[in-house]
Amino acid sequence: MATPARPERRRVNISSRLTTSYPSDATATEVIDGVDLTGRRAVVTGGASGIGAETVRALAAAGAEVTVATRRPALAEPLVREFAAVSRAGRVHVAALDLTDLSSVDSFARAWRGPLDILVANAGVMALPERTVTDMGWEMQLATNFLGHFALADGLRAPLREAGSARIVVVSSGAHRQTPFDFDDPHFARRPYDPWVAYGQSKTADVLFAVGARRWSAEGITANALNPGFILTNLQRHLDDDTMRAFGVMDEDGNLTPLPYYKTPEQGAATSVLLAASPLLDGVSGRYFEDNEEAPVVRGDEERRGGVAAHALDPVAADRLWEYAAGAVGAWSKTHQG
Ligand SMILES: NC(=O)c1ccc[n+]([C@@H]2O[C@H](COP(=O)([O-])OP(=O)(O)OC[C@H]3O[C@@H](n4cnc5c(N)ncnc54)[C@H](OP(=O)(O)O)[C@@H]3O)[C@@H](O)[C@H]2O)c1
Repeated sequence: MATPARPERRRVNISSRLTTSYPSDATATEVIDGVDLTGRRAVVTGGASGIGAETVRALAAAGAEVTVATRRPALAEPLVREFAAVSRAGRVHVAALDLTDLSSVDSFARAWRGPLDILVANAGVMALPERTVTDMGWEMQLATNFLGHFALADGLRAPLREAGSARIVVVSSGAHRQTPFDFDDPHFARRPYDPWVAYGQSKTADVLFAVGARRWSAEGITANALNPGFILTNLQRHLDDDTMRAFGVMDEDGNLTPLPYYKTPEQGAATSVLLAASPLLDGVSGRYFEDNEEAPVVRGDEERRGGVAAHALDPVAADRLWEYAAGAVGAWSKTHQG
């Protein structure tokens, strides 16, 4: 079978804020309408549930071959079956990946064959009530949401380069606004653990990751980060009922009551899919999006529902974080790969 033609690398430097005609409540299907991803290959981490599953659906429906990278492969089997019979859709595959286990990340990356056009770093955990650490001594939210994804992208760098014009999409959160990255104590070894500060820090790291990835732009690899909005999914599993009620999303009887600005998972996946597939993003890198357009820069210490904090776009912090992450992941590689 002939290999489909791949687009030439394009490097465009756009300095004005990138806006689109898609409303904030557009769905993933709407933002990808008219885009043909036949011959493209994508990986979506955490693609078996929530926003990730809707991202998989939209990319596969547009013709991409999508691999769901999940620590529970059985959960993704319905997605595989859903697309096995759809003509003109891409096939959906499943592969095991636990982002907190670098052996698992390494195995996933080593097993990958051929080019990779789209990597959606979507998997995440939020607000673990107690400080929990991985075998590496890494705080669990930082390990899952950022360090595991950093190791994965690094392991897949050659396949991304091979694609000629590849995109990394990093699913961050508005929670990034509450804190810069703490280089002195990223794993809460000395400061008191706070579930929301830990989550916010990991999501700041996600945005800085997209900024730092400019070092790969000469290889045709772009990276952008996004906030999907507020969506009721399994992500809230660590929140108790009192917290859910305090957020106004649960009534006295335990029923979920999304607020008017909450999105469905299909709407929540729209910005991810826009960044992964829209021609509007050709050559765009190192930026932060929400509600289907680039977000304005705001101060990080304000009470607000939108915008990107300047601390998350700081190129100096991005380079420092890149060095930190490369060192942390490199230490594992030295021990385990001889
Ligand atoms: N929902 C929101 O309101 C909201 C807002 C802002 C940002 N986000 C971000 O959106 C992303 C998707 O979240 P969601 O709302 O769709 O929640 P979700 O349904 O819980 O999806 C998160 C996914 O990440 C996977 N995951 C967790 N730990 C993992 C690990 N160690 N290795 C591999 N996969 C792992 C989960 O798999 P398991 O099922 O095996 O746990 C799950 O499939 C997250 O990055 C989240 O921070 C969500």
